[in-house]
Amino acid sequence: MAEGTVERTLVLVKPDGVRRGLIGEILGRLERKQLRVVAAKLTSVSSVTAETHYAEHKGKPFYPGLVTHITSAPVFAVVLEGRSAISVVRLITGATNPQTAAPGTIRGDLALAVTPNLIHASDSPASAAREIALFFQPSEFSEYDRVGSEYA
Ligand code: RTP
Ligand code: MG
Repeated sequence: MAEGTVERTLVLVKPDGVRRGLIGEILGRLERKQLRVVAAKLTSVSSVTAETHYAEHKGKPFYPGLVTHITSAPVFAVVLEGRSAISVVRLITGATNPQTAAPGTIRGDLALAVTPNLIHASDSPASAAREIALFFQPSEFSEYDRVGSEYA
């Protein structure tokens, strides 16, 4: 029986993931989990958007490098929908530091350094709502039936 509230979460394939050609690898892992892509685009992040998105980290030692990185090349922004999507995507993403992220996770398998750690994933319903609205307009969303949705 299907369990868990249907949620939406924001994923950003960060500039390191785009530049390394890993958009498909990263999204493929999330799609195979039966999460539904409901909006997606390649987009450059402005300094203002970066500072808004990462406002909670302002003042931390890694903040300047983080803003520099996220604005250094395009990101691939995706909204994924599914049961417990926020926690499920965080689990598949892995720990913040790829050197200690579990094997089998995106960061654990594919990254080594902490700032360029390939992917951003919303960490709570409030963050997801805020971040989705920062990156997408309502007109950018599409509705459709996924094959196999009876098992998701
Ligand atoms: P994210 O927000 O990107 O999904 O990552 P997260 O929740 O796992 O990590 P968070 O603590 O929110 O940190 C945001 C991003 O900042 C960079 N970072 N660098 N050098 C450092 O010590 C350090 N710590 C964090 C990473 O890019 C991290 O994803
Ligand atoms: Mg975070």
